[in-house]
Amino acid sequence: MSNSAAIIKIVPSTPIIARSLQAYSSRPAGGVAKKPPALFPRYFNAGVFRIEVMRKIRTAMFGTGFMGKVHTEAIRRLGNVEVVAVAGVDQADAEKFAAAFGVPRAAGWEELLADKEIDAVHICTPNYLHYAMAKAGLEAGKNVLCEKPLTMTYAEAKELAELGVKKNLANCVNHNLRCYPMVQQVRRMIEAGELGDILIVNGTYFQDWLLYDTDWNWRAQAAENGALRAMGDIGSHWMDQIQHVTGLKITSLCADLQTFHHSRKKPKGAVETFSGKKLAPSDYDSVKIDTDDFGAVLVRLGDRARGSFAVSQMSAGRKNRFEFEIYGTKCGVTWNQERPDELWIGQRNTPNQIMIKDPSLMDPRAATFADLPGGHSEGYDDAHKQNFRRFYKRVADPSAAIEYPTFADGAHGMGLLEKVLESSKKRAWVDC
Ligand SMILES: NC(=O)c1ccc[n+]([C@@H]2O[C@H](COP(=O)([O-])OP(=O)(O)OC[C@H]3O[C@@H](n4cnc5c(N)ncnc54)[C@H](O)[C@@H]3O)[C@@H](O)[C@H]2O)c1
Repeated sequence: MSNSAAIIKIVPSTPIIARSLQAYSSRPAGGVAKKPPALFPRYFNAGVFRIEVMRKIRTAMFGTGFMGKVHTEAIRRLGNVEVVAVAGVDQADAEKFAAAFGVPRAAGWEELLADKEIDAVHICTPNYLHYAMAKAGLEAGKNVLCEKPLTMTYAEAKELAELGVKKNLANCVNHNLRCYPMVQQVRRMIEAGELGDILIVNGTYFQDWLLYDTDWNWRAQAAENGALRAMGDIGSHWMDQIQHVTGLKITSLCADLQTFHHSRKKPKGAVETFSGKKLAPSDYDSVKIDTDDFGAVLVRLGDRARGSFAVSQMSAGRKNRFEFEIYGTKCGVTWNQERPDELWIGQRNTPNQIMIKDPSLMDPRAATFADLPGGHSEGYDDAHKQNFRRFYKRVADPSAAIEYPTFADGAHGMGLLEKVLESSKKRAWVDC
């Protein structure tokens, strides 16, 4: 085993030694905690300490694009997990990524699943591949973290959720947006009753990277993406988030989907997400578009709470603006992903506040999502890291609490997406 694959820990040999050592090291002596005794060889010889060599968790990355890179970097920040292999659209694609990111092995994803030394896989490929990869991963005994939307259909997602439970393997759908510190702050404020009863939810998820008909991505066609594009890609995040923070479920909805460009110019070569701006306007095929550019949805969350949201990939100037507003009987809050460390708190009778992320001032459970002190920003990359940390805690210890979005959450989200499509087609309210 190479050093990079191992974590070496020096630990007390028995619980009694551990407790005595803790008591000794925390006992104040003249106001200053004493340091633990120096680790001379005699302590090892006497059996006071032993050396534990723990194998790092080994992970394979499926997908070499936008998310493949984001996941690889975030995993490496965890410390106890290493990316040992990568699969791409073909061997050359995987090798290019392996060379660029220092991943030791490049191979096909099915070959990697047959490797008994691999503990977990991250699925960062186009949506149509998620189901087959996640199912095969669970069947092969791997813990699986899959990008959203979990699958192409509710039936597939439900099957995966059941399989994850049956196999007792960690399974996570990457709703990383849950993991911003100030989002967790809102969740805990609501839980503590600080907003009162929730009355109104509202928001948008707006982007502009598919504004022109020359903007192309695999998401544009249902065959690789699934029937819902803007709604599936980013509306899935919005619906997951609002239910996660409020603790309420969307119980009915009324949706209106729109495709502004009925055809788009598809470049003849492959295109990575968000890279449209780099392409020269030549060598395109004109293709018919069967997915939504925009969607607006009215939602009911139980008997009392009401709301609405809209998603778009054609809103000029909005790069990745995910925003929610929540209004309760006591106060309101607004959070926007493009300014993630800020939380607006709206008051009726006192001045409104902007709360800035500072773990020392936050709810202690929300503060566990912040690794840096106040004034040190934490953003998109960090939210992935927080989600992955919680996932790998469960991989390391299958009895650990589940503190991340699971395949069951992904299946619930797929169910809602199918209701959105049904509602838009029927031009009517549907119950969820
Ligand atoms: N959670 C988030 O914030 C977030 C953000 C963006 C995308 N996503 C999701 O991540 C997934 C990937 O999106 P992306 O933006 O990275 O796309 P991308 O086009 O940038 O990358 C997709 C990758 O999949 C690879 N691929 C294609 N076929 C493959 C195969 N047969 N085997 C292995 N690899 C294959 C491609 O080579 C490419 O590297 C999607 O499901 C998307 O919805 C999530």
